[in-house]
Amino acid sequence: MAKIGNIDLGDFPLLLAPMEDVSDPPFRAVCKEGGADLMYTEFISSEGLIRDAAKSRQKLDIFEYERPIGIQLFGGDIGNMVESAKIATEVNPDLIDINYGCPVKAVACRGAGAALLQDIPKMVKMTEEIVKCTHLPVTVKTRLGWDDNTKNILEVAERLQDIGIKALTVHGRTRVQMYKGSADWTLIGKIKENPRMHIPIFGNGDIDSPQKAVEYKNRYGVDGIMIGRAAIGYPWIFNEIKHYLKHGVRPSPPEISERVRAARKHLEFSIQWKGDRLGIFEMRKHYTNYFRGIPEFKPFRIRLVEANSFEEVITILDEVTGHYSNVLLSA
Ligand SMILES: Cc1cc2nc3c(=O)[nH]c(=O)nc-3n(C[C@H](O)[C@H](O)[C@H](O)COP(=O)(O)O)c2cc1C
Repeated sequence: MAKIGNIDLGDFPLLLAPMEDVSDPPFRAVCKEGGADLMYTEFISSEGLIRDAAKSRQKLDIFEYERPIGIQLFGGDIGNMVESAKIATEVNPDLIDINYGCPVKAVACRGAGAALLQDIPKMVKMTEEIVKCTHLPVTVKTRLGWDDNTKNILEVAERLQDIGIKALTVHGRTRVQMYKGSADWTLIGKIKENPRMHIPIFGNGDIDSPQKAVEYKNRYGVDGIMIGRAAIGYPWIFNEIKHYLKHGVRPSPPEISERVRAARKHLEFSIQWKGDRLGIFEMRKHYTNYFRGIPEFKPFRIRLVEANSFEEVITILDEVTGHYSNVLLSA
């Protein structure tokens, strides 16, 4: 049974990864339905929150049905991180997560995200101050280390546990790797082998099928798995993994009508939350994924990404349902 503080997450929780410009409330709504056990907001800039920047503030929007949900913060200044953790606490999420993993230059070169992997004493101090300033459980998401020569995650895991974090998620890449190569979970397994470690350890990186999830669960002994890219346009991944864990077989893939229903729900919520123009625009990047693997889908995809109104999109989605109603999809 995995527990973060008093939050009971069941036997083997599946977490939806924080993803900038993806893990917003509309996307989270379809992932919750798809079986995600714990979700996070996309990362939120501590400086932005303190400035009251509207964009950062909007990212704090969370809904009751989303629980348990964590707010993820990033920043390079300890004082600002503490201030922003206090602001996030007021919104009453279930936990606060700190991002020590973001590799992109705009973040890591400003001393935030994965940059803290180069300054462990500062990372530990920052985490300690955040743990002290909030009554909520604090969790951390990070990478194996900065580069191949500094894979210090075993030490980092112990030190962060010692100052009070309640769970740790590790993406099996270094900062230098960015998203290249494949994730290596060997060190994640080693954290689990350390008898001093008692907080839940969640593995992350490249899980894209129920088979792989179960294989990695068994091989590395993690307490749960966090999934990012594989859930984009395929929120069914969570329930498919649960089904595979229970029955040892992969369920049939979602029918076309189910894909249309999920895409439509995502679109409706996007419009409701972001307004017509942005809601329709930002949904465009998701259609390819909702209909991945559907034969000869390209003409529909082109029309979907060119449509400018809700009504137009719905007309096309209805056509999609009709066109493929008798097509059996394979996993
Ligand atoms: C578009 C995108 C945005 C991301 N934004 C964040 C973020 O805001 N915070 C974070 O901790 N990780 C972020 N990540 C990293 C993911 O949370 C995850 O660690 C990574 O994608 C590896 O998992 P996956 O192979 O299951 O996708 C992002 C990844 C992607 C692809």
